[in-house]
Amino acid sequence: MILKGKKGIIFGALDNQSIAWKVAEHCVKEGASIVLTNAPVAMRMGEINGLAEKTNSPVIPADATSLEDLENLVTKSMEHFGGKIDFVLHSIGMSVNVRKGKAYTDLNYEWMQKTFDVSAVSFHKLMQTMWKLDAINDWGSVVALTYIAAQRVFPDYSEMAESKALLESIARSFGYHYGTAKNVRVNTISQSPTMTTAGQGVKGFTDFYGYADKMSPLGNASADACADYCTVLFSDYTRYVTMQNLYHDGGFSTMGMNPALIQ
Ligand SMILES: NC(=O)c1ccc[n+]([C@@H]2O[C@H](COP(=O)([O-])OP(=O)(O)OC[C@H]3O[C@@H](n4cnc5c(N)ncnc54)[C@H](O)[C@@H]3O)[C@@H](O)[C@H]2O)c1
Repeated sequence: MILKGKKGIIFGALDNQSIAWKVAEHCVKEGASIVLTNAPVAMRMGEINGLAEKTNSPVIPADATSLEDLENLVTKSMEHFGGKIDFVLHSIGMSVNVRKGKAYTDLNYEWMQKTFDVSAVSFHKLMQTMWKLDAINDWGSVVALTYIAAQRVFPDYSEMAESKALLESIARSFGYHYGTAKNVRVNTISQSPTMTTAGQGVKGFTDFYGYADKMSPLGNASADACADYCTVLFSDYTRYVTMQNLYHDGGFSTMGMNPALIQ
């Protein structure tokens, strides 16, 4: 019960493969109360209602690119909890150019702006909204999910690489301000390839998933294991960890070559 009495908002649970879905389940199991949110368009699939029932939590729709939606979400969440929030998970990613099959050397820049807005700037918008509403308790914790394509080249990840680099930079910059003002920590978790809707949208994902699994001494980290890590980062056991990009990848990021791949 390492999250006993804590209150959090979880973005991005689309279906039971979603990393955010597992995080929601783990947080509630560890004693937290949560509010679930996703883009209004994702609500139409309706699966989130099952999670809401299971975790006894309300669902408040919000397009993470809309300041109006974010303000409504944060205000209503505080009303629901009867106070401020202790933790937030940003588990949002979407590339318009990848979805539409545009090559990296032929990007549509309007789509690219949309990709950045959804996948990275939304993280700033979320924290700025919470900052202005003074919505996070002292020693709170904010986590966003990212991928190692921010540091290394993974050609089919396309403009999502730049999105993740921006996301990680926003975590560091806002982490300074939130840390100084409120002792709130802000981190990103760089997760292994994971079989989810967003993951499988990347070309050649299945082959790449297998490659990363073999390259990593511990194998790919699952969504469930990622949820464990998020839970610890939301808990009081990590109060001085901030402005970090934390690899949760079975060792992949440190490997150069693995003989297992050469056989
Ligand atoms: N799956 C992987 O291989 C992998 C690896 C590393 C990091 N990540 C990151 O993990 C996070 C979660 O992705 P996932 O793999 O669980 O896939 P997912 O498809 O289950 O989750 C992505 C979520 O983003 C939401 N979303 C999209 N546009 C939105 C908007 N405008 N407003 C609010 N929500 C919006 C979707 O509705 C969905 O719930 C993403 O940031 C992703 O980049 C995934």
